Amino acid sequence: MKLDRILPFARILLEKAVHPGDITIDCTMGNGFDTVFLAGLTGENGHVYSFDIQKEAIQTTAAKLKAENLQECCTLIHDGHQHLSKYIRKEHSGKVTGAIFNLGYLPGGDKSIITQADTTISAIEQLFELLAPEGIIILVIYHGHPRGDRQNGDALLTDCP
Ligand SMILES: C[S@@+](CC[C@H](N)C(=O)[O-])C[C@H]1O[C@@H](n2cnc3c(N)ncnc32)[C@H](O)[C@@H]1O
Repeated sequence: MKLDRILPFARILLEKAVHPGDITIDCTMGNGFDTVFLAGLTGENGHVYSFDIQKEAIQTTAAKLKAENLQECCTLIHDGHQHLSKYIRKEHSGKVTGAIFNLGYLPGGDKSIITQADTTISAIEQLFELLAPEGIIILVIYHGHPRGDRQNGDALLTDCP
């Protein structure tokens, strides 16, 4: 059997779980590809919350959303995903059908700024409270880069409930 590559596979899963009008979260905004993809799924009646700790990510993503005329249905948050529950509106709690983490560094940016296992785990724990029934959390984990084991994969696989 031929398996899908990781990013297309993540999108197939999101397409199954997320529908127009839904609430979604991009926990690692980066260059905005996942945020734009989610906004395309949720549409004008839904909402995407998107987080990144780097200003550069917010600027790139804001420009991408504007070019696609999707900016109205997204909230770009310049803060870590470990604080996500304080940004999700009360009426959206329990209604999140899809959340994605694309772990690692910002492509084209500073490679020393990377996601950390403890903040990822904290965000996942908060997401459990926000998810809709049958909602999905996707983690795209790369083992291939230096420190990719502890920050992303192994720590999460061993520390997560
Ligand atoms: C691999 S990139 C994400 C790619 C992105 N999803 C896209 O579609 O382009 C990982 C991003 O996670 C961000 N990041 C690191 N720690 C974070 C945190 N605690 N909260 C939110 N984002 C974080 C990095 O700044 C980086 O931009």
